[in-house]
Amino acid sequence: MAHPTRTASLTIDGKTYELPIHSPTAGPDVIDITKLYAQAGVFTHDPGFTSTSACDSAITFIDGDKGELMHRGYPIDQLAEKSHYLEVCYLLLYGELPSAAELEKFETTITRHTMIHEQMHNFFRGFRRDAHPMATMVGVVGAMSAFYHDSTDINDAHQREIASHRLIAKMPTIAAMAYKYSIGQPFVYPRNDLDYASNFLRMCFAVPAEDYVVDPVLARAMDRIFTLHADHEQNASTSTVRLASSSGANPFACIAAGIACLWGPAHGGANQACLEMLKEIGHPARIPEFIARAKDKNDPFRLMGFGHRVYKNFDPRATVMKKSADEVLDLLGVENNPLLQIAKELERIAVQDEYFIEKKLFPNVDFYSGIILEAMGFPTAMFTPIFAVSRTVGWISQWKEQLADPAMKIGRPRQLYMGETLRDYVEIENR
Ligand code: CMC
Repeated sequence: MAHPTRTASLTIDGKTYELPIHSPTAGPDVIDITKLYAQAGVFTHDPGFTSTSACDSAITFIDGDKGELMHRGYPIDQLAEKSHYLEVCYLLLYGELPSAAELEKFETTITRHTMIHEQMHNFFRGFRRDAHPMATMVGVVGAMSAFYHDSTDINDAHQREIASHRLIAKMPTIAAMAYKYSIGQPFVYPRNDLDYASNFLRMCFAVPAEDYVVDPVLARAMDRIFTLHADHEQNASTSTVRLASSSGANPFACIAAGIACLWGPAHGGANQACLEMLKEIGHPARIPEFIARAKDKNDPFRLMGFGHRVYKNFDPRATVMKKSADEVLDLLGVENNPLLQIAKELERIAVQDEYFIEKKLFPNVDFYSGIILEAMGFPTAMFTPIFAVSRTVGWISQWKEQLADPAMKIGRPRQLYMGETLRDYVEIENR
């Protein structure tokens, strides 16, 4: 971090404190309050971290007002158009686009790590058949620390590197196995001659009884979904991974924590919730009823796939995803898909509605990803696991960055205590 040249003044009870201001390479300036408690004896209060930066980072930048998302400086639309998932993984992990030789080596390494320890199959079999694949993934990824002891030492750079490769490589295998287990089909082993996305599709949809040929258009769409979800700076699951890691926890435990957080419907669970909402709406005629519910303060219902903490103009990932949805549905001959018709009409009505305009609520990436995934044949329960596969590289990149940061310390938020003050214990017969 560059030495700050400006300060902000904070006056409390007539005493003024000078707080350093840091200027980032992009984005708003940041007031450094790390010494505030020591100097002034006060905390700052910011539930939900709406105005608080929790770390230095050089990986991903979002300008929510302009609708910009950049990885290592490269805009997401260029990456989605010209690059592919494993190249973006390399970029996120190592900071630069790879040379041809570097990319080939990286792809070979990831491909060679896609199989999981055979004994881990027993883990899957311990789950109920109807377990949500996210529940299975949280458990199985956490259990990796019980199988890969040689990559749990976070102080060893080589072990950190192997853990990174293992997680990126094995996550599609684990997600596909969670799916296969839930539908009672045999696990399909990965194949080294397939690219990352094709391999995932095959592990999900092949059966031993017949050959499965991956359609290149679907593989491209799958790869684009992975790419668009690869990282998103300090979102809830990434912050969870960073917080878990700040205690020195092993990488598999940290990523399992990230998966658990991603599952929530306000985060990665939104793509499943969005598709379920479109199904519940059922017909364009019922859209006004659901819009009215979303606007009703007394109704907890929200339009799933709408709104974002950071994007207040549009979600650049949604723009690419919408185009991809058209391509996939066209290929599959389902451009008249009733859910897509409802989604398009819902978007048309919502973006013209005063409530949504005033609160800057636009369709986010999850609004269209669910429609593509359903058209590809994925059940709704697999949408969030696919998000988890994609986001693993983001979690890992941020985890690596944090471990290399000399300013890293255990995350330990303070609180605004509003409970009882000191009182004496009351014997049970006197209560
Ligand atoms: N439908 C109706 N009203 C909404 C919605 C929505 N989807 N989202 C926000 N609002 C309203 C909210 O009620 C609040 O109104 P008021 O100011 O009158 O209280 C206002 O807009 C601001 O909302 P907020 O909850 O304070 O905003 P937030 O930044 O805390 O929440 C969000 C962001 C994404 C959690 C929220 O917009 C939401 O719940 N959206 C639906 C779930 C969703 O699609 N999530 C996926 C996010 S993108 C993928 C990812 O990053 O995981």
